[in-house]
Amino acid sequence: MAIGGAGLLSGSLTATFGRDRSTKRRQTAAPTQPPQSTGPVVSVAASAVAVGGSAQVKDPATGDAIYIVQPKAGQYCALSSVCTHSGCAVDAPKNGQMYCPCHGSRFDAATGAVINGPATKPLPRYAVTKDGDKLNLGAVQS
Ligand code: FES
Repeated sequence: MAIGGAGLLSGSLTATFGRDRSTKRRQTAAPTQPPQSTGPVVSVAASAVAVGGSAQVKDPATGDAIYIVQPKAGQYCALSSVCTHSGCAVDAPKNGQMYCPCHGSRFDAATGAVINGPATKPLPRYAVTKDGDKLNLGAVQS
């Protein structure tokens, strides 16, 4: 009888603590959301991004890799490395394309557009501004 009582008490405490933990998670999740309208926070030397090449930086909000590419001389863009199909990391730009090794999606390294699936959505793009020899990463655009 005492064992059954302890089991009921234990189950009751577990249910109570489980509820408390999920409440705390919800309360702490909101402050970690990155602001969407911040200015440039990451820079890379423009000389580090050759025409047809790329430089990898990290999104300060998520830690995910971002590729800053220069598909044509003087034209820069930044693309997320997170595949829009199921979230795998796509490879660095090569021959104008970015390949996802998980299921074979290919993206245009100049625009992030899907070349072939299974992904159906383009890679998220970030704003890039050139300031002297620096390329400044801006906010997510799409
Ligand atoms: Fe990239 Fe599936 S996660 S193709």
